[in-house]
Formats: sequence, C-alpha cells, structure tokens
Amino acid sequence: MGIRAKPLCLLKFEFMKIETIAIHAGNKTDASSGAVIQPVVMSTTFERAEDGTYTSGYIYSRASNPNRTLLENVLAKLDNGADAAAFSSGNAAGMAVFQALKPGTHIILPDDMYHGLRNQLKNLFAGILEFDFVDVNDSDAIKQHLKPNTGLIWVETPSNPLLKITDIKMVTAIARENGLKVVCDNTFATPVFQQPLALGADIVMYSSTKYFGGHSDLMGGALVTAAKDELWQKIKQVQEMGGAIPSPMDCYFLSRSIKTLPYRMAGHAKNAQLLAEYLQKHPKVEQVLYPGLPGHPQHEIAKGQMTAFGGVMSICIKGGQDEANRVVNGVKLFTRATSLGGVESLIEHRALVEGPDSKTPRNLLRISVGLEHIDDLIEDLGQALG
Ligand SMILES: Cc1ncc(COP(=O)(O)O)c(C=O)c1O
Repeated sequence: MGIRAKPLCLLKFEFMKIETIAIHAGNKTDASSGAVIQPVVMSTTFERAEDGTYTSGYIYSRASNPNRTLLENVLAKLDNGADAAAFSSGNAAGMAVFQALKPGTHIILPDDMYHGLRNQLKNLFAGILEFDFVDVNDSDAIKQHLKPNTGLIWVETPSNPLLKITDIKMVTAIARENGLKVVCDNTFATPVFQQPLALGADIVMYSSTKYFGGHSDLMGGALVTAAKDELWQKIKQVQEMGGAIPSPMDCYFLSRSIKTLPYRMAGHAKNAQLLAEYLQKHPKVEQVLYPGLPGHPQHEIAKGQMTAFGGVMSICIKGGQDEANRVVNGVKLFTRATSLGGVESLIEHRALVEGPDSKTPRNLLRISVGLEHIDDLIEDLGQALG
C-alpha cells in the first residue's frame, strides 16, 4: 500500500490555537517518500502532461513553488486571513502594495513609519503616488488629510523605533466610513500578539526577516489579506510578474522557524518586560519606550489590542548622544547591530542607522531583546550604563 499523506485542507485550522497552527499549517508529509518534513523543491520548472495540463498544479517557480505554497498557507492561517503572499524582503512586500495601487492614489502613512519604507516611497514613488506622513494616532489629523483620491491608510504598531501604538479599530473605522483600505505593518507584534485583520485591517504586512525567521539568517517579507479582492489580485500579479519572491530554501527555513514562533515570542516578551522594568528605574536612563510599561502613553490601547507587548524597546540615555555612544560601545553580550527579532540580543544607535534626515532622538538606543537569560542581559546593560 502506498503512503497516504494527510491533506492539509482536512485540518480545521480556524478552530485551532496558534501554537498548533504554527506547527502544522506550513508542513505536509511528502506523499511520494513519506518524509514527515516536506522536501525542499529546488526545481524551477515542472513537467507538463501530453494534454498540456500540469497535474501538480505547478508550472514555474516564480509563479509558485511547493515550499512557498506551504509558507503562504501557514502565514494566512496565523492571521486568519483569506490568502498570503511571500516576498524576498519586508520592503518588497510593502512595495508590492504601493505598486498595486492606481497611479495618483493618495496614501496616509505614520509620521514615524519604518524609515526604509518611508525612503522607498519618497525615492521611488514620488510623482507616481501621493503621500502624507501624519500622526495616525490622532483621528482628527487623519480626517484632515483625507482627499478625494485617498485610497489607503498605512499603520505600523508598535512603531519602529518609537514604539508608538496606533488604535487599529479607530483607524479602520475612519477607513470604512470613507471607503479606504488599511494596511498594518505587524512586524513587531507578529500574529502571536496582535491580529490586525480581526480589528478591521484589510492587509497585514511583515518583514519576515525579523521574528518569523527568528535567527537573523534570512530575508523575507509577507502580506496576508482579509479578502481576495481586486487590490489583492493586483498584489498577486506584482508578486508573480515582478518576481521579488523568496527562494525555496528560504521558504523552507521560514516554515521551519515559524513552528517555534509562539514560544519564541513568549520568551522575547517576558525578557523585554523584565528588562524594561529594570531600565526604567536606572538613574542613567531618561525614558524607556515599551508599550508593556503602565507609564507608556498608549499602554491602555496596547492592552486592548495586543495579548503581550513584544521584544523590542527603545531607551533614551541621559546626557545626549555622547552618553548613548558610550553605553552602546560598552556592551559585551549584546551585539551592536541593526535589525531585530533574532534569538540573540541586539542594540543600536538608531539615528546613526537611519541617516542624516532621521528625526529619531540622538540619545535613543533601540534594543531587540533576545532569548538569553534575563539575568545576563540585565548584567550586561547594567555594566554598560555604569
Ligand atoms: C517595521 C518594519 N517594517 C518593514 C521592515 C523592512 O523589512 P526588510 O528589512 O525585511 O526589508 C523593517 C525592517 O527593519 C521593519 O522594522
């Protein structure tokens, strides 16, 4: 008797908890070999039958590949979306949204949006799209910036690097009233702590380079949609015809890492909360920006829409940039590097990374709290602060 692989479609993921979805929705026992873990399919092309059909459903790997299908399946299920599209980076995922909009569309975006995507818009879409960077936490500011050609509101919560929280329901209510789409960059929270589609967003965006990958060793991006509508069809065309797709190997590693995402996120958030509480009492620290602290200006909103507060924080050091430099150069266990979401803790002087037009305070250090023991992290930052 041949091996009978359990079809993924028979599993009712909508009734399962996120830990179960993360392990099963991106994995399929291989029908031909019985391998419990799916093989990596490197082939770029797939055999066509004499009658012109493709029995496997695959034609050419830019359009789709078995490893990408599994990755997109788990991504869609984690956010309880209708479909997902995987990209070669977070910026490629964001760009697919912008490329899918009709030229001349006006977008409202956060004034403290991730600088890489802000720069992408300013450099690559000037003259093609219209955009305003506004305080999207202020409903009046959003309403004042609405124009007849506004098509989209972009939110990023928690934001990078100021850890501001945007009330997703407030923004989606304004969008509904005005027939607009909402995209939420959910990179910091991940679907484990925040479900933007359930709060009314149309599309969720991720840099999967961060927590999905989780080990600082691959680049990726993702979009998950609530509905397979016209905008989504266009985004899928951008993905397939533009070809900014992750390799089969990267899809495999992402599906593998996602299996531990809920447990890693719990560890990141636990460590971050303890570190934030330690740092806010430290005499050399002016301010800790972390939504899990009751003193954070939008702590109540965060509590209402997140189940925990993530693993990233920023701290402002007393004494300006020189003191911040001294601290960042004094760490031994933390690594001085940009990015976030890996198992190892990173620290960076954010304004230097963002470049000359950065509005980030010069005394701000962004910290990605890893999964080392919290005592060792506290000891290292303690000695660096002095
Ligand atoms: C919030 C956020 N969105 C998007 C991106 C872009 O992702 P990538 O670096 O994978 O292109 C990043 C990267 O740091 C990010 O932090």
